[in-house]
Amino acid sequence: MLTIAFLGATGGCANACLAHTLRNGHNAVALARTPSKLESQLLEQPGLTREILDKHLRIHKGDATNVDDIINTLIIAPKTEIQPCTLVTSIISGIGGAPTMSWTRPNPCDKMTMRIPSLPHIELPNPHITEDTTRTLLQALQRISTEQFGSYDKYAYAAPQLTVISGTGIGSKNGMKDVPYLFRPMYSTLLPEPHADKSNMEKVLNEEREKKETLLARGLVIVRPSFLTGDHRIVPAGEDSGYSKLRVATDESPAAAIGYLVPRQLIGEWIYEEIVNCGGERWAGQGVLLTC
Ligand SMILES: NC(=O)c1ccc[n+]([C@@H]2O[C@H](COP(=O)([O-])OP(=O)(O)OC[C@H]3O[C@@H](n4cnc5c(N)ncnc54)[C@H](OP(=O)(O)O)[C@@H]3O)[C@@H](O)[C@H]2O)c1
Repeated sequence: MLTIAFLGATGGCANACLAHTLRNGHNAVALARTPSKLESQLLEQPGLTREILDKHLRIHKGDATNVDDIINTLIIAPKTEIQPCTLVTSIISGIGGAPTMSWTRPNPCDKMTMRIPSLPHIELPNPHITEDTTRTLLQALQRISTEQFGSYDKYAYAAPQLTVISGTGIGSKNGMKDVPYLFRPMYSTLLPEPHADKSNMEKVLNEEREKKETLLARGLVIVRPSFLTGDHRIVPAGEDSGYSKLRVATDESPAAAIGYLVPRQLIGEWIYEEIVNCGGERWAGQGVLLTC
């Protein structure tokens, strides 16, 4: 039986993916700072009921910058004298900061506390949130491998698959080549802070990917949505979500999926279909661009 771990499941993309996961009868565990917020979002989703949540979902209250909270989320059953530890099969992270628009910047002169006017740009309460939580996740996996499995060889069979949501205009191979021309000035002015964070997160993941012999997570997929629209709500089963309009490409050859906007619910549906339902092997090791 698959068990999928979700980080950032009160965000639109990951919540939509979690809703599809539960609606299709899979088990899930979610780390949430405010479990009641996650529960009410899920109960708004078509096809989800209290009974389904009770049967298929465990919510762990905690913070993704806390290594113990992540460890407790990922372990389904700790090792015993007769049984090895059971871990989640796959981890899906939609962690991100709560962006606010700012028209000022810190004063470059240390002695002046007053901020100075600047071009409008996005600021995050924690400008390192995805980098920090990715480092914490890898620390958690490292500790699980030693404390629960004793050796990397034993852990390697249980290492979960990892999917993270990043963005376009970030992949070092492409620079801005995966962003439409008309959006490039807006991306450069508005998004340096969230992009620096995502870029640092990808550096952390690339360093991990280079340790081929002792990988803590297998089948890493980096999802790159274009500008996100809408919220977490998926459509009722049997109705057209617009999934057939989704364009998909990889970092190696981004041309087929360079676009402006994409709904959060479609990102969640793609991650469900390709990673949870189909296993994700086709996309392992790749950055995947998604747009409409
Ligand atoms: N906006 C865009 O156009 C765009 C484009 C491409 C990619 N992205 C990226 O795509 C990702 C998903 O975006 P989204 O809009 O679906 O989600 P989102 O609204 O950015 O949600 C972020 C999630 O991260 C959680 N979170 C933040 N800090 C946390 C912490 N310390 N511990 C635990 N959880 C924490 C939030 O939980 P709380 O509910 O507790 O706050 C929330 O569930 C984000 O990384 C975003 O930056 C955005």
